[in-house]
Order: sequence, then structure tokens, then C-alpha cells
Amino acid sequence: MAPIAVEPSPAPPTVVGPTTKKATRPTNQIPQYLIEEARVQKEPFNPQRHLNFQPPSKIHTMKEIGLEGHGISLNAVSEPFPLFTEDAIKQIRAEIFSEPVLQKCQYTSSFTKNMIRGMGHELAPFTYNAWYSAEVLARISEVAGVELVPSMDYEVANINISFNDSSEELAQGADSPNGDDLPAVAWHYDSFPFVCVTMLSDCTEMIGGETALRKPNGEVMKVRGPSMGTAVVMQGRYIEHQAIKALGGRERISMVTAFRPKSPFIKDESVLTGVRPISNISETYTQYTIYRLEVLEERLRARLKMERRREVAKHDFDLASAKSFLMEQKQFLESMLTELVEI
Ligand SMILES: [Fe+2]
Repeated sequence: MAPIAVEPSPAPPTVVGPTTKKATRPTNQIPQYLIEEARVQKEPFNPQRHLNFQPPSKIHTMKEIGLEGHGISLNAVSEPFPLFTEDAIKQIRAEIFSEPVLQKCQYTSSFTKNMIRGMGHELAPFTYNAWYSAEVLARISEVAGVELVPSMDYEVANINISFNDSSEELAQGADSPNGDDLPAVAWHYDSFPFVCVTMLSDCTEMIGGETALRKPNGEVMKVRGPSMGTAVVMQGRYIEHQAIKALGGRERISMVTAFRPKSPFIKDESVLTGVRPISNISETYTQYTIYRLEVLEERLRARLKMERRREVAKHDFDLASAKSFLMEQKQFLESMLTELVEI
């Protein structure tokens, strides 16, 4: 059994959420062509047919970006790597642009104008079966350098959708001297330890779309954005980052899946700051509470087992270790009290 982490680790960064405080529906319409073009013959997720994983050409480490000792893995961010086949992307897009999903799952915030979130197993079985498949989780964990599971059902696919509904975005690009440094989202930290960003659009005619990372010394490093079917894995809870606006192209649709450590014995500093304003609160709070209590349950069972074994072996009580364990669980519960708030 893995030991419960007792080493002091640096305090996690504070997450700042959108100024939108409550779940809000977008006022602009998703273009009809996106909805019509997305219709396909439905098929179940099949890793042999729908996965196209190839390891990334490079994985940047936390050490390389000046964050050694932070977070839950030595890996910081990957270069884009192939993950899904074109057929898989078509199936996912069909679920995103289906009538019930558009009715129930559209959100907007001061960060992102059009989002689809919390589709759930029933409305998006392909997407959910893909993200919960052993094959996909093994690949994502391999790139992350730590075994991961989706943070909560609700976070299995946050879809960010941008489309050219006016000349606004293109005009901005024309005004910019280089056209490649406009932030799509302000500098921020994510609410969950890891994210996987998968591109669902053809990006051949786009410029920009990179992720910029800001190192503790202020230096900015850019990582190439994913192209259709490829993904980037990043330890976003611990790395300050920003998405660079993509220009050109008719639409840009990316799928962001949030992850937490699979092992209950690894620290989990997930917060709900970024997701509270863009979620069904009852569903999110329920899923968050269940997973946190499951983590706590596993930790308590393991600790209890260890204490019983120690007693049988006639070893003395370890006061320092017991106190450190209790302190850790106290902080874990206190974090839940901070996160579960009335909005
Ligand atoms: Fe982010």
C-alpha cells in the first residue's frame, strides 16, 4: 500500500473564477450548420476503432518550468499527441450538437462565451465511455506521469465552442501587428490537478491557439495547441497559463476533460471555484461530495488497518504520525467546507 503523503508541500495557488457568479445560458445561437453537419450514424465507443494514440514528441517537466516539487507529478505539460480517430471525433460532435444536449447543457461565462458542460452518460454515452475507458485512462495517465481518473462526471468534457458569427474576431486579428498574441482567456490556474484538451475542429487554416505558460520567474513559454484529434495534457492546477486566441477558420471546438489522482493517498487540491458558476450546482456538489467522501473512506480504512496491525505487532503508538494523518484529513474536510457554499 502506498504511504500517505506526509512530506510538506508548497501551498497550492489560489484559483480565480469567472466574474459570472451563477449558471447563465448564452444569448447567442449555435449556428445551424454546426448542428446539421454533426449528424452521423451512432456507434458505440470501441478503442480499436476510435483510438489513435501516439506518445507526445516531448513532455515538459515541472523542473524545466521552475516548479520542481509542486503538484502531484513530475510532468508539467505535453506537446500535442494523436489520441482519437476522425470517426471518434464525429461521434463526439454528434453528441455535443444533439437537440437534448443543446437544450440542457449550454453555459456562458466571462471566460468563455459558449460552452457545453455536464452532458452525462445518458445524453453522451460515446463521450463518457471514451473518457472512462481503461485504454484512454492508461494513455492519459502515461502522459501525465501519474495515474488519473476524471475529476467528476460533470467534468467529462467541458466543450468550448467559438465560431465566426461576426467579423469581430477576424477584425481583431487584422489590427494586431502579429495577430498571434491575443489572449482568449486571462492568466489563470485550473480548478483540477490535470486537464486534457482535445481538439475537435480542423485547425489547418488557423493561427494562434497555443497555450502560454508563465514560469515563477515571469518568463513565458508557449506550447503548441492541439490540432484535430490530438490532445495536450497539462497540470493546470499548478501552472499559471493562458490560451492564445486562435484566428481564422470557421469554428474552433475544444474538449477539456478534468482529472484528479486515482489513488486516494495522493493529495487532491481540487477546488470548485472555476466550475461553480458554469454548472448545475446540485449535480456538481453531489458528485464532488461523493468522490471526496470515497477518498476519505479509503484513507480511514487504510489507517485503521495500519493501527490494528501495529497493535498486533506490539509496536508503540506513533503520536507524530497519527497527528499528521489527522491534520491532513482535517484540511481535506475544511477544503470541502470552503467549496460547498451557497451561491
Ligand atoms: Fe485552464
